[in-house]
Amino acid sequence: MADRYQQFTKSPVGKFLVPKLGLPSPAVLRRYQPGQAPLDGPALFGAAPGGRLEKTVKIQLADAGIDVLTEPVDDQRYGALVFDATGITDPKQLRELYLFFHPVIRKVGASGRVLVLGTPPELVEGRERIAQRALEGFTRSVGKELKRGATVQLVYVAPGAEEAAESTLRFLLSAKSAFVDGQVVRVGTEGIPEVPRPESWEKPLAGKVALVTGASRGIGASIAEVFARDGAHVVALDIPAQGADLSAVANRIGGSALQLDITAADAPEKLASYLKERHDGVDIVVHNAGITRDKTLGNLTEGAWDAVLTVNLAAQLAVNDKLLADKVLRKNGRIIGVSSMAGIAGNVGQTNYATSKAGVIGMVNDSAPKLAEYGGTINAVAPGFIETQMTAAIPLFIREAGRRLSSLGQGGLPVDVAETIAWFANPASAAVNGNVVRVCGQALLGA
Ligand SMILES: NC(=O)c1ccc[n+]([C@@H]2O[C@H](COP(=O)([O-])OP(=O)(O)OC[C@H]3O[C@@H](n4cnc5c(N)ncnc54)[C@H](O)[C@@H]3O)[C@@H](O)[C@H]2O)c1
Repeated sequence: MADRYQQFTKSPVGKFLVPKLGLPSPAVLRRYQPGQAPLDGPALFGAAPGGRLEKTVKIQLADAGIDVLTEPVDDQRYGALVFDATGITDPKQLRELYLFFHPVIRKVGASGRVLVLGTPPELVEGRERIAQRALEGFTRSVGKELKRGATVQLVYVAPGAEEAAESTLRFLLSAKSAFVDGQVVRVGTEGIPEVPRPESWEKPLAGKVALVTGASRGIGASIAEVFARDGAHVVALDIPAQGADLSAVANRIGGSALQLDITAADAPEKLASYLKERHDGVDIVVHNAGITRDKTLGNLTEGAWDAVLTVNLAAQLAVNDKLLADKVLRKNGRIIGVSSMAGIAGNVGQTNYATSKAGVIGMVNDSAPKLAEYGGTINAVAPGFIETQMTAAIPLFIREAGRRLSSLGQGGLPVDVAETIAWFANPASAAVNGNVVRVCGQALLGA
């Protein structure tokens, strides 16, 4: 599962040949380590006149241990550029973006961060709505221009949700978001709940019980590890055939192993009783279990269609219905889906898989208002090319294309998906609801 091409570019021969042949040279991404500085350099903050976020954001960045500058400094490399664009109420003012970013964009350091903060366009009208919507084109293009592992995101913060954006800013600025690039995130559009601040940002899930399906390997095992690192008790679930690997994961993280096929008719009932009896409920549910059965539509068997739709969508809906109906999912609970780039862009040979993964996005859209009613959230990640056993099975040339056709020019790691899911699971993300965030290094395919 190693990216041999990337390893080659860092070897002495590769360092000589790659620039001579004009080949891509993917950056080594800065990834999170406990105790690490939040950014590799100071953050430069700027705002369009009339912005409403300046005060809170400056406090939030300083609380996170980030050195905040408000004026450019000669010869400075920045860990981040943060721009409050909420003051832009007319398209004419979009030139504020140019005025702030033009002189400093080339000074973003390796694995640096660019954040543009706006107002959700759907919450405003007229010229302001048009101007705020325009921010998306700007940020997505900046993502395609940034180099050396630097990323950009647009965060739309609803009026009144300024304080509630802290967990999102921390995540997107940190090395935890290494493979999230060119994304648009909304904070607080479904009504703004009370948002607790964790006692410890290092252990935000302390005291929480989290269920992770498909946890014996790949992305699921990584989610279980990251949740345990963040303080949760993890119930790791997988099919009985994966029992040995599942126990190994559960033992490693001090969690519990639950062997269950989520497609079994009695699976929702069994799961609900298990969580109720052993843990008196569950705080976080991650529907990570998923399968592929790839064939072009004309060659696809009915069984392969049904199997994929059942594991990747129908079984998850049945589990959600049961956990909600029996109130096993606690107040302020979190449901997190794992969609896919295929569910957004479509893919040859994946009509069944892409249908199921687009259905996961539908599940998020449909359930977000229902969960908001009792302080819960539902969100999904949509991974692009992630280095796992699933992608190791893809033929070489298609695999290489999958890796390189993104702004970051490489595949992501399971931990990149896990960190994004941990941000959704964080109690401080109570106002992050109904989002689908791609973890794809800004794949060049899809919207
Ligand atoms: N790897 C990628 O690049 C990628 C990209 C996009 C989306 N995804 C999604 O991420 C998730 C994890 O992918 P992965 O690459 O780690 O896959 P994987 O095949 O390594 O792991 C999936 C796990 O789900 C389990 N599982 C399958 N059917 C189950 C069932 N009926 N009941 C319980 N568990 C079941 C499997 O036993 C396996 O352990 C999947 O939903 C996948 O569709 C992966």
